[in-house]
Amino acid sequence: MTMKRVFLLALIIGLILTAAEPRFTESNQLRRPEGYRNWPLVGSSLAMSYNEAPSQREEFHHVYLDPKAYKQYKSSGTFPDQTILVMEVYSAASQVSINRQGRFAEKLLRVEAAVKDQRFADKWAYFHFDEGAATAKAFPKKDCWNCHAEHAETDNVFTQFYGVLRAD
Ligand code: HEC
Repeated sequence: MTMKRVFLLALIIGLILTAAEPRFTESNQLRRPEGYRNWPLVGSSLAMSYNEAPSQREEFHHVYLDPKAYKQYKSSGTFPDQTILVMEVYSAASQVSINRQGRFAEKLLRVEAAVKDQRFADKWAYFHFDEGAATAKAFPKKDCWNCHAEHAETDNVFTQFYGVLRAD
């Protein structure tokens, strides 16, 4: 194989490995996104609560954005069709090992996803993956979409809380 071919092959394999498009079942259930821990981590929050009552549990949220959407958002401030955001929720722990102050993300509790796709009448759909589940069904609009549409800064995405997207 010539060097040029080797290079092209490496390029194609690279593209396949980094391509992150949402995959659906025939009934529009989302298949669990893979490889998202290699995506840019755009948001991280601790114990954010959406109501006034003190939260029962302190949890870390880690938000990953697929590389293609990250690139487009950085250059144009918009999210393309087929954008995927994955939010991992971790328990917060302290007093472990040498730690005496502050908290760290300890144990993975939940995986949620937001996907922008034309197949959905409202463009964005929201999912929660039960432990070990390979697929997830979109939530009804009132459970997730409404709050995102009303309060998120950019096209249903809470960019106001994602420092990485604001940084130069
Ligand atoms: C009352 C408001 C509210 C509701 C209801 C809500 N969310 Fe969110 N969501 C937020 C806020 C605020 C963030 C910002 C990031 C964070 O929580 O750390 C967020 C972030 C997210 C993200 C990261 C990507 C993004 O869009 O910014 C996902 C994925 C997500 N939520 C999934 C869900 C799912 C699934 C449901 C329904 C079961 C849901 N949300 C319901 C307020 C809401």
